[in-house]
Amino acid sequence: MTDVEGAGFVVEARPESGRFLAEVLAGLGAPRKALSPKWLYDARGSALYELICEQPEYYPARTELAILERHLGEIAGAIGPEVLVFEYGAGSGRKTVELLAALERPTGYLPVDISATALAEAARRLSRQFPGLPIRPVVGDFTEGIALPDADLACARRLAFLPGSTIGNFDPPEAVALLRRMARDAGAGGKLLIGVDPPKDEGTLRRAYDDARGVTAAFDLNLLARIDRELGGDLRLDRFRHLAVWNGRLGRVEMHLESVEAQLVHVAGASFTFRERETIHTESAYKWEPRAFDALAAIGGWRLDRTWTDERAWFSVRLYERA
Ligand code: AVJ
Repeated sequence: MTDVEGAGFVVEARPESGRFLAEVLAGLGAPRKALSPKWLYDARGSALYELICEQPEYYPARTELAILERHLGEIAGAIGPEVLVFEYGAGSGRKTVELLAALERPTGYLPVDISATALAEAARRLSRQFPGLPIRPVVGDFTEGIALPDADLACARRLAFLPGSTIGNFDPPEAVALLRRMARDAGAGGKLLIGVDPPKDEGTLRRAYDDARGVTAAFDLNLLARIDRELGGDLRLDRFRHLAVWNGRLGRVEMHLESVEAQLVHVAGASFTFRERETIHTESAYKWEPRAFDALAAIGGWRLDRTWTDERAWFSVRLYERA
């Protein structure tokens, strides 16, 4: 347990610093260089993601929030009273405020996030807004499986909340594994409220991940700054540029950092070469056709209950029950 900036005690699932180094060395040493998007979220990365959500091109956050606000009563009714809410990749938790306020007598909130600072801030804000509600932040990597500290909290059922199309960051097999883990953590009678981002025209998708102000580019490039600072690297941010490409075959937007020239870089004493225009793949954002996603969710142990969307059907909020 660690005290995170006065937010109270936060359960730290596992130290992440050794993992970051190991994954960076493996990711830059691979024939096709790649890093997990979870490393994008240090304090600055989390703040930049919040700023991305305010960019006009980044439709998912705004569209999902509008759907939640518009149908909140119905959504809360469909979920039912006295639920214990857990959220993987909770971040700033703006959507959670709306949800918790609408739910009938929620019995607890367990946010899990890899960014201790984002989590601490959200927990602080939420405990002010919901003074009687037990809030138990957990710092850690939810893809690793995390023991939720909720043994003493009674509830009618548990609700897994995964907004923001977080599920889109995972390749289909990993997405199934995550859906299964949430089904197990939700337990018998558990439910899942999840945001799903359907495919749409390529220009809209690409612009959402490469906004005109360059906020997404800064978010992506911040990963290099983080490597330099935390792992003793010499990657130069002006020698890479951010790319967002739509991979139609795999149905996903990809973020890459492209080397603008042939170069040699170092991290923690190890060296890596880049060809001109060689990239590091830093994130995938799968865009799921809602029906295809239902099939994936079924493999993960979930049966569709209800759905809500916006006028353009640009985003889908889906409620599932344990199958
Ligand atoms: C936080 C995973 C929902 O994939 O859309 C935003 C992250 N990356 N812009 C997404 C992100 C670039 C975002 N999620």
